[in-house]
Amino acid sequence: MPRLVIIYGTGFGNTGIMAKAIEEGAKSRGVDVVMKKILDAVPEDVENADAIAIGTPTYKAAAMPNIINFVKKLADKPVKGKVGAAFGSYGWSGEGAGIVSDMLKSYGMDVIDPDLRIKRTPEDEGIEVCRELGKLLADRIK
Ligand SMILES: Cc1cc2nc3c(=O)[nH]c(=O)nc-3n(C[C@H](O)[C@H](O)[C@H](O)COP(=O)(O)O)c2cc1C
Repeated sequence: MPRLVIIYGTGFGNTGIMAKAIEEGAKSRGVDVVMKKILDAVPEDVENADAIAIGTPTYKAAAMPNIINFVKKLADKPVKGKVGAAFGSYGWSGEGAGIVSDMLKSYGMDVIDPDLRIKRTPEDEGIEVCRELGKLLADRIK
């Protein structure tokens, strides 16, 4: 079965809500989904993935440092050609997801544009947009 791996960091839970909705959307399309918080993730988690979605909020005009460290390590993994996506919650400027998206693109991944950013806590509409991203990711790897 095609597999989507979702790895995310979150300080206050907002990016976590996005990750959960992406998971729901992908599962509704019948693909296998592995979801991990960054503290539980290892770079090897992406090896059997067909698609990789990385979530990071924006802090100090950047992505979370542990997310950046993790994504750097993917450069040595066989991710070229895999489907990718970056997403995350933000407050006012929202650079985090874009930084991750650019890193994934630099590895030759097929990254969905634009990255998905939601201001603060996702409401119903934002959650639905996240579910749609999950469905899109699933449909790309089926
Ligand atoms: C110390 C701190 C710095 C922040 N810096 C930024 C920033 O530079 N740009 C921005 O868009 N949001 C910034 N934010 C807002 C967060 O991105 C926002 O609260 C987001 O919803 C947090 O997501 P999370 O719950 O997944 O951690 C900052 C928040 C804090 C607490």
